[in-house]
Amino acid sequence: MPAIEPFVRWAGGKTWLVPHIPTIVGNLHIEHYHEPFLGGGAIYFSMDHTKKSYLSDANSQLINTYIQVRDNPEGLIESFKQIPNTEDDYYRIRTEITGENTVENAAKFLFLNQTSYNGLYRVNRNGRYNVPYGFRTNWAYDLDRIRIASSKLQNTRIDTGDFEVNKYRIKENDLVFLDPPYTVSHNNNGFIAYNQKLFSLDDQQRLKRFIEYIKKRGAFYILTNAAHKTICEIFLTQGDRIVKLRRNSLIGGRNALRTAIPEYIFTNIPEVNHE
Ligand SMILES: C[S@@+](CC[C@H](N)C(=O)[O-])C[C@H]1O[C@@H](n2cnc3c(N)ncnc32)[C@H](O)[C@@H]1O
Repeated sequence: MPAIEPFVRWAGGKTWLVPHIPTIVGNLHIEHYHEPFLGGGAIYFSMDHTKKSYLSDANSQLINTYIQVRDNPEGLIESFKQIPNTEDDYYRIRTEITGENTVENAAKFLFLNQTSYNGLYRVNRNGRYNVPYGFRTNWAYDLDRIRIASSKLQNTRIDTGDFEVNKYRIKENDLVFLDPPYTVSHNNNGFIAYNQKLFSLDDQQRLKRFIEYIKKRGAFYILTNAAHKTICEIFLTQGDRIVKLRRNSLIGGRNALRTAIPEYIFTNIPEVNHE
């Protein structure tokens, strides 16, 4: 299937990385694809992959939406069309949405995602979604995006859970794309509180051990992470390579400035693969 765009707006989305992926992957033969920090799934949706993929994220409301998109796109579209885009409805739906796996919750999630301020997903200490209304009153969502994403998701297993949830399904020659939340604040990137629990340095250490496991299985990984000394100390393991990229970004405020943010990619895909 051709590359498509994510059907949700997602902070930290990797659309900017998509053009770099063929250079990093080269002519590597991939069996199964795994993406355990799925978010908007920019990289999964950009790939032309026919074998089974394993997709997961810790955000259960996001994952319920993926499952409904895959299994019930027309029901989701019908439910979504019923929601009026007004400020009052936004705040009502924000309190109504629950973690139950239903098509109504997926429609509410998609509506909040499309009309919230900056498409952020953020929860307070009690786990309640607390992003304000974005006043996107001229907004129109192309419903075909749900149908197209649905056909692209047909050969996938989709789970809610920590990044290790499908660990035992990783096999030789699989590719695991890892895009964890930032732990260290740098270059105005700041933290993104996707969940109640921040991704800690201990989680980054656990991710390092997960990468060692992936390599032992004879599989490949690509890790994106902050261009930061602490991150390099954790992930620059012998034999693996680091690809340094620059991402264009608009840094906020009234005097918004276009600037290039350094980002690091760590991978065990050998460079010889590019011959
Ligand atoms: C940087 S975003 C991924 C963005 C994605 N690559 C994209 O293109 O939109 C990180 C994701 O990790 C998820 N997450 C946070 N902690 C996690 C954990 N311990 N295990 C799995 N997912 C986690 C967040 O919900 C968020 O969707």
